[in-house]
Amino acid sequence: MTALNLSSRILGLGLVVLASSACRGQTSSEPPLVPERNMYMQQRYNPQSRSTFFEDGRTMRKPVEHTFAREMNPSAEISDGELADGSGYVLAVPDAVVQDFGGMANVVDRGQARFGIYCAPCHDLTGSGKGKVVERGMAPPPSFHDDRIRHMPDGQMFATISHGVRNMPPYNYSIPVNDRWAIVSYVRALELSQAGEH
Ligand code: HEC
Repeated sequence: MTALNLSSRILGLGLVVLASSACRGQTSSEPPLVPERNMYMQQRYNPQSRSTFFEDGRTMRKPVEHTFAREMNPSAEISDGELADGSGYVLAVPDAVVQDFGGMANVVDRGQARFGIYCAPCHDLTGSGKGKVVERGMAPPPSFHDDRIRHMPDGQMFATISHGVRNMPPYNYSIPVNDRWAIVSYVRALELSQAGEH
């Protein structure tokens, strides 16, 4: 192969690479050029769309009976803070959660760290309800040291974190289940630390 031949080949290859690479800064609605397209071309249903394959017409399937998804917690007490028979909230942090953390001391430690991240901006580090967001104009939340909140079942506080309440946003997507329980334990520790009569 002559030197000229080789360099023209290299030039040709360069042109091909240039032609197939996207232009910087330009958006395109076309899928990117990839040699192996089968992952893009799979058949699929859109969420909520109708299925002609399943008899009930649903594309979104329920888990097979007696199974549950990996991230789903089988116990309503742990995942919702509610008693299994639906008669009310669980009163205390479930034992299984404490065991997962390897003891109550770890639960409270974890809760303290998460509380500082997720709750203190509004409720402040002592739980009195005068956080930075309140300084910037949000109506103050109630103090965690109010009797009503001190006597609220742990499950109800868990549900408050999960679903939010009135002006408070929900945290079920941003804080994992066990961490929400850890936060509840820490709020309890915080309350005890300030409750003179206990
Ligand atoms: C964006 C600000 C904000 C954050 C962050 C926040 N809260 Fe709140 N929280 C509020 C407000 C506002 C209220 C009062 C809601 C109302 O009554 O309108 C409230 C109320 C509460 C209440 C009382 C509910 C009731 O029944 O009155 C509890 C308990 C609570 N928050 C716990 C928490 C915990 C635990 C966290 C951290 C995971 C947290 N909050 C994070 C703003 C916040």
